[in-house]
Amino acid sequence: NAVLSEIQGENPESADALEQFRITYLGSKNKIKPLFGEIRNVTPERKKEFGQLVNSVKVAAEEKFQAVKDKLEEDSLSAAAGNVDLTRPGFPIERGSRHPVSIVMNEMIEIFSRIGFSVAEDREIEDDWHNFTAMNTPEDHPARDMQDTFYLKNSVTRLLRTHTSSVQARTMMEQQPPIRIIAPGRVYRNETISARSHCQFHQIEGLYIDKNVSFADMKQTLLYFAREMYGVETDIRLRPSYFPFTEPSAEMDVYLGTADERSRKLTKGTGWLEVLGCGMVDPQVFENCGIDSSVYTGYAFGIGIERSAMQRFNISDIRSIFENDIRFIRQFVSA
Ligand code: PHE
Repeated sequence: NAVLSEIQGENPESADALEQFRITYLGSKNKIKPLFGEIRNVTPERKKEFGQLVNSVKVAAEEKFQAVKDKLEEDSLSAAAGNVDLTRPGFPIERGSRHPVSIVMNEMIEIFSRIGFSVAEDREIEDDWHNFTAMNTPEDHPARDMQDTFYLKNSVTRLLRTHTSSVQARTMMEQQPPIRIIAPGRVYRNETISARSHCQFHQIEGLYIDKNVSFADMKQTLLYFAREMYGVETDIRLRPSYFPFTEPSAEMDVYLGTADERSRKLTKGTGWLEVLGCGMVDPQVFENCGIDSSVYTGYAFGIGIERSAMQRFNISDIRSIFENDIRFIRQFVSA
């Protein structure tokens, strides 16, 4: 009891005093410890009562310690707050900017999301089955040539995907139609790096499979895309082309010159910009991926992103897109 009232009488007001208090009552040689030792000398019938008393002394010490500690901390915080000069200018927060490729890619994703396409993403390290075989690209096709494709070291089957069309195969293997996806991502080709081409770039793949999907459906969807992306009066042009995985195939250009230039058939200035490859999914691709080609039809397209980004932001050298020079990236604080 004497110790208890002693503790109650204590009133440490500084950190030093509190430390002294801690040593006295809670330290390794504290004043309460011997009391625990005395429990043994008390008569059995009073043992319980005495034990509880000693314990309450210990608890009282601990509680006081914690209460004073909390108060001291609070005091020091509010003292520090009192010293803050609220009129001082803040630290400037630098505004970040998006990479031009991200800006254009996000915009394209947004445009297709509005008409019900959902985003599917997959691996950049692929196997040749998903990248080529499933996409109806035979073993001896030039696109399989070592010249164009980066294979992983010591491997003839593992490669860096050369197009996002591999995601078509991955998606068809996993789900039955209706399928309506876009697959944005990075692709790689073993090409000489120059101002106009790079060994890495970005694509957005599109795939739409259902009953009775027609070429006209594809054309209208791509026209919608072009007008959302490049302006409401944008014209498109489909040129016949060839891809192993679509039949028929086409490439789409958008006209970016002025209406006046167009009427005078001037192709100088911005003119036509080639933006994507497309076509009706070849039935063989359906068969390769477990979809019944007698029931379903579909279209696919692959949009190159860099070209649009370069056109939009007046970037003349594709290499600057991948150099990550902060002075370059900083210019695109927009959209
Ligand atoms: N994969 C083709 C390319 O990389 C583009 C494409 C995708 C063409 C889908 C048709 C259909 O050039």
